[in-house]
Amino acid sequence: QTGCITYDPGYMNTGPCKSAITFVDGEQGILRYRGYPIDQIASRGSFTETAWLLIFGELPTREQLSRFSAGLCAEELLHEDLRHHFEGFPPGGHPMAMLSAVVNSMGCYHPDLLEIESKGEFYLAASKIISKVRTIAAFSYRKSMGLPFMYPNPALSYCRNFLHMMFSIPHKHYDPSPEAVRALSLFLTLHADHEQNCSTSTVRMVGSSQANLFASVSAGICALWGRLHGGANAGVMEMLEQISEGKRTPREVLELAKQKKFRLMGFGHRIYKSYDPRAVILKQAAHDLLTKLGKLDRLMDIAMELEALALADPYFAERKLYPNVDFYSGLILRALNIPMQMFPVMFAIGRMPGWIAHWYEEHQQHGSKIHRPRQIFTGQVLRDYVPFDER
Ligand code: SDX
Repeated sequence: QTGCITYDPGYMNTGPCKSAITFVDGEQGILRYRGYPIDQIASRGSFTETAWLLIFGELPTREQLSRFSAGLCAEELLHEDLRHHFEGFPPGGHPMAMLSAVVNSMGCYHPDLLEIESKGEFYLAASKIISKVRTIAAFSYRKSMGLPFMYPNPALSYCRNFLHMMFSIPHKHYDPSPEAVRALSLFLTLHADHEQNCSTSTVRMVGSSQANLFASVSAGICALWGRLHGGANAGVMEMLEQISEGKRTPREVLELAKQKKFRLMGFGHRIYKSYDPRAVILKQAAHDLLTKLGKLDRLMDIAMELEALALADPYFAERKLYPNVDFYSGLILRALNIPMQMFPVMFAIGRMPGWIAHWYEEHQQHGSKIHRPRQIFTGQVLRDYVPFDER
C-alpha cells in the first residue's frame, strides 16, 4: 500500500538557512545588502563596489576599491585555449549553455584554486570569476553572431569594457554614452544578490559538498536559466512584443493569466507580497535611459499600461501580485541593444558576487556539513518481488 512515512520535523534539520548577506522583507518591500538599503546602494554605489560589499561585508575604502578594480582588470583575459571551447558550440547555441560550460571549465585552467584554503585564494578565485564572466558572456554573444571575438581593454571600466567586447568591431571602437554605462552598472547592482533564491540556494547546495567555486557558480547559472527565474526578463519582453504586434491586447493578456493559461511574466514573487523595490528603481531607470538616449520604446508604454491594469484588478490584488525585478529590467537591456537571448546571461553577470558571497559564507559557516534535505515518503511502503509470469 502507499503510505506516508514522515519524520519528526526536528529530525529533518531542514530549517531555514542562516545568512548575514542580504535582508529581504517581502511584506514591506525592503531589500538591504549587508544592511545598506538598496535605493542608497543603487543611487550612490557602483557594481564593483557592491560586489566588494556583498563578498567582504563592508563598503570598500577608496584604496580597497582601486585595488579590487585593478585586480579585475588583471583577470579579464581568458586562457587562449579556452577560445577553442567556443569553436565547439553550434552557431545557434544558447549563451547560458556556453556560460555555464565555460565557467565550469575555468577549474581546469586554475587547478590551484579548486581547493580554496586561504582568504587570498578565495579573493583570487572571486576576482577571476567576476572579471572573466564578462569576457565569456561577450564571447558567447560574438560566437552566436558569427562575429570575431573582441578582446577586453584594460583601460576601460568594468561595464564599459563589457559593452566594448560586445559591440566594438575591428577598427571601430564602440563608445557607449555615460548614461548607458551607468544604466548597465545599475542593472548589475540590482541583480547582485537576493538571499536564498533558487539559483543561490543551488550554489550553496553544490558548495556544501565542497565542490569548487567554479563548479558551484556554474550550477547556479543552470538554475537561473529557468523561465520562472532568470529567464523571466526575456519572457516579459516576449509578452510585451506580442501586445505591440497586435496579437493580444493588455486586457486579453491579463484575462489569460487569470484563467491560468500562462503566468504574467515579471509579476509575482515568492517573498515580495508588495512592490519589488528593485522594480521601482528599474522602472524609473528604464524611463530615464530611454529619454536620455532619445529612444521611444512602445514597449515601455505597454509595460506601464499592463502594470496599471493588473494593479487595479482584484485577481492580482487579492494574490498580492506586483511587478518584480524582471518586469522593467529587459527594457534597459533592450535600450542598450543587448539581444533578448542574452538577458538571463546579464542576470548571471549581476548575480555572480552574490553567489560567490553565499558560497564562501556556506564554507565559513558549515565547513564540512553537506546539505541533505529529508523527504516525506509517499510511495509503496513494503511489498514482495513478483515473478514475471505473475505480473
Ligand atoms: C526572480 O526568489 C527570488 O528572489 C527570485 C528573484 C531573484 O532576485 O533571485 O527575485 C528573481 O526569479 C523573480 C521572479 C521571476 N519570475 C517571473 O516573473 C515568472 C512569473 N512569476 C510567477 O511564476 C510566480 O509569481 C513566481 C514563480 C515568481 C512565484 O510563484 P509562487 O510564489 O510559487 O506563487 P504561487 O505559484 O504560489 O502563486 C500564488 C497564486 C496562484 O494562484 P491561485 O492558485 O492562488 O489561484 O498567484 C498566482 C498563482 O496562479 N500567480 C500568478 C503569477 N504568479 C503567481 N498568476 C498570474 N501571473 C503570475 N505571474
